[in-house]
Amino acid sequence: MIILTGAAGFIGFHTAQALLAAGHSVIGIDNLNSYYNPALKRARLEKLKSHKGFTFCEANIADAPAMEKIAAQYASATHIVHLAAQAGVRYSLENPYAYAESNLMGQLVMLEMARHLKNLKHFVYASSSSVYGNSAKAPFGLDERCDEPVSLYAATKRSGEMLAHSYASLYKFPATGLRFFTVYGPWGRPDMAYFSFTKNIFEGKPIKVFNNGDLRRDFTYIDDIVAGIVSALDKPSPNAVPHRVFNLGNHRPVQLLDFIATIERASNHKAIMEMSPMAAGDVYETCADITESQNTLGFEPKTTLDKGIPAFIEWYRDYYQ
Ligand SMILES: NC(=O)c1ccc[n+]([C@@H]2O[C@H](COP(=O)([O-])OP(=O)(O)OC[C@H]3O[C@@H](n4cnc5c(N)ncnc54)[C@H](O)[C@@H]3O)[C@@H](O)[C@H]2O)c1
Repeated sequence: MIILTGAAGFIGFHTAQALLAAGHSVIGIDNLNSYYNPALKRARLEKLKSHKGFTFCEANIADAPAMEKIAAQYASATHIVHLAAQAGVRYSLENPYAYAESNLMGQLVMLEMARHLKNLKHFVYASSSSVYGNSAKAPFGLDERCDEPVSLYAATKRSGEMLAHSYASLYKFPATGLRFFTVYGPWGRPDMAYFSFTKNIFEGKPIKVFNNGDLRRDFTYIDDIVAGIVSALDKPSPNAVPHRVFNLGNHRPVQLLDFIATIERASNHKAIMEMSPMAAGDVYETCADITESQNTLGFEPKTTLDKGIPAFIEWYRDYYQ
């Protein structure tokens, strides 16, 4: 039995589907908050609820008593996949406390849950490429210090890794952090650029192109990310302090303007571009060094933008048009 937080979210939904298809029972937790339209979260949940092995608990991961109740009810859980978080770099300028609640308090409460679950074999949680900030050298390797975050979001994700390390050290349960690099695909997140670009391109509205398009992103397709998460679940760290982190990225960064051109081709529409300066808290480039993930997790991202973007656009058309 696997407890999965953020089950109604983009990555959580796809991960739950993969785990259910592999025959696991999944206890999904999510508070269905309105950071983006909860109708999309509910639509994802509807699909998950069609599986016999899926149970949903609507709850806030930062609510310790609520999580204790869930842990008591599902005490035979062997794994936690903790993906719930307040995501997004730009929103952390507007609503900093949401990040403290979900990413700091929420991470701590989930670690407490892990610590007390008697049958727990592995705690796997989401981190982010944003922990590398602007000072890491591309491709970003695991030996980078990651102590110069340029956004509050990044600071909370890096803090989450440290909290996990301290718990693995104190209580000796295996914990693994996965640093995801710009994940995209069907059922994706409306607040992310690829999504809002597609929406505006279809609606004939201008898109805001930050840093005049001079940004590089390591866009990673959702199915590749899910394969990495599922593989990590079976591979707890054998070290004395059983905590480690991995990069899950495509390791083929693309220029923002090339990315927009791919959306234009796949949607058969032209973008109206509004050039803008660099946004506060943003980084110039992300690029994963995935050597460790390849060696230990057998992680091999397979999906090129030319395949992944049309798959997203097909879903978008189907869902919204
Ligand atoms: N999508 C990406 O490109 C990306 C990149 C790096 C890291 N991540 C991380 O991956 C994880 C999943 O991201 P996603 O893209 O699926 O985002 P998402 O926003 O679609 O999913 C997160 C889910 O968690 C839920 N949630 C948030 N706070 C909660 C709380 N306090 N209690 C219960 N539920 C709560 C939300 O309702 C949402 O359904 C997050 O930890 C995020 O930080 C994502």
